[in-house]
Amino acid sequence: MRRGGAVLLALVLAGLVLWVPGCRQQETPAEDEDLIVVGVSQVGAESDWRVACSESMKEVFSQENGYRLLFEDAQQKQENQILAIRKFIQLGVDYIVLLPIVEEGWESVLLEAEEAGIPVIVVDRAVDVPSELYETRVGSDFLAEGEMAAAWLEERFAGQSQVSVIHIQGTPGSTAQVGRTAALEAALGRNWNWTLLAQMDGDFTQAKSYEVMVNFLEEHHSPPIDLVYCENDNEAFGTIQALEEYGYVCGAGGVTVVCFDATRNGLRWCMEGRISLVVECDPLLGPLTEQVIQKLEAGETLKKEYNTAQRCFTPQELTEEFIAQRAY
Ligand code: AHR
Repeated sequence: MRRGGAVLLALVLAGLVLWVPGCRQQETPAEDEDLIVVGVSQVGAESDWRVACSESMKEVFSQENGYRLLFEDAQQKQENQILAIRKFIQLGVDYIVLLPIVEEGWESVLLEAEEAGIPVIVVDRAVDVPSELYETRVGSDFLAEGEMAAAWLEERFAGQSQVSVIHIQGTPGSTAQVGRTAALEAALGRNWNWTLLAQMDGDFTQAKSYEVMVNFLEEHHSPPIDLVYCENDNEAFGTIQALEEYGYVCGAGGVTVVCFDATRNGLRWCMEGRISLVVECDPLLGPLTEQVIQKLEAGETLKKEYNTAQRCFTPQELTEEFIAQRAY
């Protein structure tokens, strides 16, 4: 019997597993518990990307694949993630998979995991801690994604005398925000004719982005806008909704909207022409995370980072057939 299995079984027999608040109750451990117990702390469900990411984790860490999954949704709160990690430590899981909301603030709890001898795998965004506190990070290169968007925009606006820019940022302090913001800010620094009209927090959600955009348009009496740089698909949906309600046209001949993720909905809006560029960010991180765990099980040495690939989409190249066959 594995360590995670033994501890969980003991807790179940003592009736202690049932108290885990917010933790989706899994099936009772089998008598001969030989499963690998994985505790996953997920940020929340703020975007289509995040929902696809959670599904990917649940699909891969199944009993049929040899795992017992303890999945905690932190509802966008770092303190809930820290509580979840502490519960995983108490339960003695075999692995902790952390999808951190922000980069800062993890050192003490990851030290606790290290002291308990539980390997931590960081997935999606990064953590700012000494590198020995986690095994590896699996996720996107967010700066590279932003640089892809910036390169496309520089070509798109080459020769235009003035470019008025609105920037809708993701959750402050998250690696996805930090990397994508850094790329836009570098482009703003290189292009003296680009003017930043506003930089607003959309928190990676449609609702917040709609709200901040409406407030901006009200306050500034709907000024001319050339470009809106949204840090994910859902922010683009909220922003475009607001712009269209205020009489703007998004797409060719109107406001250029760019965003990140390339979920099916994002690609559909792009195919329709309302989004001019979508940079892909792969949410299906379950299989790669599982491969990392299998490498650890086999005693193999890991790289400190496993990055997914990304590509760009523009309306011209998209078809309904292509979008329909995408997994998310
Ligand atoms: O960290 C990945 C980002 O977080 C995705 O771009 C976004 O949609 C999500 O909420």
